[in-house]
Amino acid sequence: SYQDEQSEDYLFKVVLIGDSAVGKSNLLSRYARNEFNSNSKATIGVEFQTQSMEIDGKELKAQIWDTAGQERFRAVTSAYYRGAVGALIVYDITRRGTFENVSRWFDELKVHSDANVVVMLVGNKSDLAHIREVTAEEATALAEKNTMYFMETSALEAVNVVEAFQTVLKEIH
Ligand code: GTP
Ligand code: MG
Repeated sequence: SYQDEQSEDYLFKVVLIGDSAVGKSNLLSRYARNEFNSNSKATIGVEFQTQSMEIDGKELKAQIWDTAGQERFRAVTSAYYRGAVGALIVYDITRRGTFENVSRWFDELKVHSDANVVVMLVGNKSDLAHIREVTAEEATALAEKNTMYFMETSALEAVNVVEAFQTVLKEIH
């Protein structure tokens, strides 16, 4: 029906990527259900949540996909990225290695998705800033170099989580 076609127009696929244990699943559960799990298990395969929101008076639906950071648990790469119009690349501000891997995730995203995919670099666990290993300045520089947005978030304290997702969704709508 016309109604179905119309709602299809506003269903946007957004993918979460980044190393294991950076907090992808908790960012999604915080955004979609306002929940946090302090002993969440590593994701196996793919999970997703559909979240509705209103932007400029239009109802938008975002289908947000979450997969495992661990290689052996990951979904089939090409299927995971197919049709994505937005992406959040997440690292953990307390583990430098997860930041150093951002460029690998970015390259994989660029190989498998549309050229104008909207990308947000997310430095998660800002509640642990006292043990940070990555400064906001260097993350800002990396984001600018690669045309990504950048935010630091805390899924634990619900800081900037809605903002990170909504910035991506506003840009692609
Ligand atoms: P994979 O599924 O293996 O790729 O991991 P993930 O990126 O989905 O990480 P997950 O959300 O499972 O979180 C990993 C661990 O970090 C869990 O113990 C979470 O409770 C914790 N965590 C997630 N977000 C935050 C945060 O903002 N602050 C703090 N302090 N811990 C967090
Ligand atoms: Mg997970």
